[in-house]
Amino acid sequence: MTSTASPADDDLMHTDPGPAVASLETIVSLAKRRGFVFPSSEIYGGINAVWDYGPLGVELKNNVKRAWWKAMVQQRDDIVGLDAGILMAPQVWVTSGHVGSFSDPLVECQTDHRRFRLDELPGTEDLTQAELLDPGVVERLGLRCPADGGPLSAPRQFNLMFQTYMGPVQDEGSKIYLRPETAQGSYVNFKNVRETSRKKIPFGIAQIGKSFRNEISPGNFLFRMREFEQMEMQYFVRPGEPATAAFEEWLPRRHAWYQQYGVTPARLRLREHRPDELAHYARKAVDVEYRFPFGWKELEGVHNRGDWDLSRHAEASGENLEYFDQATEEHFLPWVVETAAGADRAAFTFLIDAYREEEVRGETRVSLALHPQLAPYKVAVLPLLKKRPEIVELCHRIKTDLQRHVMAVYDDTASIGKLYRRQDEIGTPWCITVDVDSMEDGAVTVRDRDSMIQERVSVDRVTQLIRDRLEASAG
Ligand code: GAP
Repeated sequence: MTSTASPADDDLMHTDPGPAVASLETIVSLAKRRGFVFPSSEIYGGINAVWDYGPLGVELKNNVKRAWWKAMVQQRDDIVGLDAGILMAPQVWVTSGHVGSFSDPLVECQTDHRRFRLDELPGTEDLTQAELLDPGVVERLGLRCPADGGPLSAPRQFNLMFQTYMGPVQDEGSKIYLRPETAQGSYVNFKNVRETSRKKIPFGIAQIGKSFRNEISPGNFLFRMREFEQMEMQYFVRPGEPATAAFEEWLPRRHAWYQQYGVTPARLRLREHRPDELAHYARKAVDVEYRFPFGWKELEGVHNRGDWDLSRHAEASGENLEYFDQATEEHFLPWVVETAAGADRAAFTFLIDAYREEEVRGETRVSLALHPQLAPYKVAVLPLLKKRPEIVELCHRIKTDLQRHVMAVYDDTASIGKLYRRQDEIGTPWCITVDVDSMEDGAVTVRDRDSMIQERVSVDRVTQLIRDRLEASAG
């Protein structure tokens, strides 16, 4: 296995650019106030680590998923899509190693009974996996409960999979799991997809879907949730060197995708996993990390999973999952290079990185410089005078025409200055204002969110102009 240690290490040496917002609270409060994200079941006091996407959030997240699907499926001849079930035969998770190994080290405070992930306590940063499992590690390092300073238990392995029962009888035999990753759906469908799509290696299977993890210490808003969505692609290649080569191609491609959609390059870096840190299935893993307000954290992982999954599923199911290469007349089990991203974590990153505050004429202007492809609304149509029926009528005509192509909204609930500020704050790239002159010259004002430049455009051309600008932003 060759190593990409050099680019990863180079990136680690970059100076810290600092986060896009000093406090996470700025984003949490904007998200709540403007209808991006709400706490789940809020009227009952909420449920920890589950979040609901409001009217703007669902648009943003759908756009993130669309952008990913476009890059990973639509624009690729070698990748096809799949939407496998969340519930799978429990044997899948035994075979994949998740029942045995998908766990985190948990310690419990003996006085307040709070539970913590051992590897997230201060002072444990450099511990190896073996040290994290050592029953004497808490005593040796003198670790105490971060909340009340009480004594902590020895670590035990806590499995992160949610369990439930299928059918009316709740016993061991009916126990099933909520999937903790979408990847297994692609492995167990490998043969179905290959035979029906007639793809030749190398080829990939892409999926977007919900995953569930009973995280010990969820938090930081959308960063670590218990119910979340993944965007994962499994790329099947010949064993050995071709997997290394595919890894070296996919890593920079995935790194570039975040930049293409506007994430500040200096706030992205690559970090290779230490051998003792690798997930049970991985031969090699490099994370694309983002500089969140709470530090550098994983945004997406690129993994060389070898034939870990296919070989185990072939053995446990008795199904022959080998690939036959007609050109060379060879039978072999493909290796997998996986790109594993989170839709929520990506949407969260785009939201944070787009946040801007600036002084404009003595006032603070807040705007979200979201990439136009990701912005919830592409355009808002605003009347300068809402009491003039002919102005309102023209606004609605323009908005209805735009709605045939893009998300467009009409708003007349405040003065024009306030309406602009509102749209800036939710990231709408363009506003169209209809005024008294529009009735005379058949033209409207198009205002750009980022430059605040206003231009006069004829009513007949305005829909096409917005469509052209949006198309141009797609690159
Ligand atoms: N199939 C491999 C896999 O699941 P992972 O690194 O555990 O790898 C992939 O997860 C991505 O899924 C992460 O980079 C992150 O974006 C997202 N993710 C994982 N756990 C998450 C959680 N608890 N909340 C939100 N996103 C999560």
